[in-house]
Amino acid sequence: MAAPEDFSNPFWTPARQEAPQEGPQGETRKQYSSKQPIYRIEMDIGGLGTISAKSKTMTLLEFVVNPESPGTQPTLKLTITPSSCILQMRNKYSESFKNVPGVVYPKQPPAAHLNTLSKKDPTVYWISVDRSNKRFRYGQHLTNFSLTYLDVGLDGDKPFPNWMDTLTSTDVFQDGDSVPTGDLAYDPLPVTMDKPPLVVTDQEISLEDLEKYTRTTFANLPPGCQTLYHNVAGHNITLESPDFPDLGDAIDASCKNQELVCGDMLQKKADDNEFGDKDETYLRITIGNNLGNSPGIPYVMEIWPPGHSSPIHDHGKASAVIKVLYGSIQCSWYDAVQDHRKPIQVGNSVILKKGDVTWLGQKQYQIHKLENPGKTVCITLQCYQFEQSDKVHYEYFDYLDPHNNKKPFTPTSDMAYGKLVAQLRQEWKGKHA
Ligand SMILES: [Fe+2]
Repeated sequence: MAAPEDFSNPFWTPARQEAPQEGPQGETRKQYSSKQPIYRIEMDIGGLGTISAKSKTMTLLEFVVNPESPGTQPTLKLTITPSSCILQMRNKYSESFKNVPGVVYPKQPPAAHLNTLSKKDPTVYWISVDRSNKRFRYGQHLTNFSLTYLDVGLDGDKPFPNWMDTLTSTDVFQDGDSVPTGDLAYDPLPVTMDKPPLVVTDQEISLEDLEKYTRTTFANLPPGCQTLYHNVAGHNITLESPDFPDLGDAIDASCKNQELVCGDMLQKKADDNEFGDKDETYLRITIGNNLGNSPGIPYVMEIWPPGHSSPIHDHGKASAVIKVLYGSIQCSWYDAVQDHRKPIQVGNSVILKKGDVTWLGQKQYQIHKLENPGKTVCITLQCYQFEQSDKVHYEYFDYLDPHNNKKPFTPTSDMAYGKLVAQLRQEWKGKHA
């Protein structure tokens, strides 16, 4: 219920249901000071979901997954400190918590501890409860399988069949208090397999792809990526249009000569040292207008000279599709962009060639570095969109400079596409006159 002064406050939202402070056996949660009300994440379907908490704690973070009847049904508790990460279970209120057997730490136990390397930026910690696969997972940063730090299969039949279905809510505590609702998130789906980075058409996908899950179709991507894919995947989104079939070669030639339009812009950007490293220069050629639903203009042709790269950067929860139009690009993915912390690479770097399409979304591939390993220029088409569920619309890309200082980059335009093509036509005509 809102207070009278909040009657006309458009930002007022009801507080979440408070968790009971006392168990049926009279057990008080003495370990928590309860200065703040305890906010509880209710799960839509018992035993299924991912709960995330954003926290700067350097001492203790705890997830308590509650059953419908804590007196007789199992409770799970994950306790994370700077030196430990322990999953425990209690079958009844009268019993004490016991360590869950069979726990695996895919990145070694210390990686699962509290992230004390980032003093300024909070870290996202998440748990995944998965009754379908009878698994519990815990990870940090993006909520996906590759960032799982603790993984365990649970016996779905003990202490009684389908007991995981009774897990219906989660409380999250840090340093003795509950985590505020603004720092909590809930997804009704658990963390399972990661989607592959390569997107192909439904005509290309094979039974082997379905089995190995090495390529995916647009249908499995977030809605924003699907929209973008439909706009750029067609054959006519190419640098070999009938009226200027050599556009890619013209850009390559232009980049190699500082007297020409691309070479001149690249030299100026190198002099400006935009990202703090002269090899971290590339051209952003915007196509069309800002439609108000993306960080900057949604369609950007990016031109990468050989050996040049982007800094490691975070797309701030935006969805994106990237199509390679010329040459090849190397994509590497990372766990987080946090001030004064060296990011950790996730998975292997991948080379994408002309015609390949990749994607990024809120849960996967959000933090990456692009690099041209080839001998000719690489040209990519980057397409961005915010998802409807995104209520923030962060308009910047946070990146790390060579000293791991986190900085915001405003997506700017070096030149509009139409203007660049007009100049390149003149250059190309002059070259072949
Ligand atoms: Fe990017």
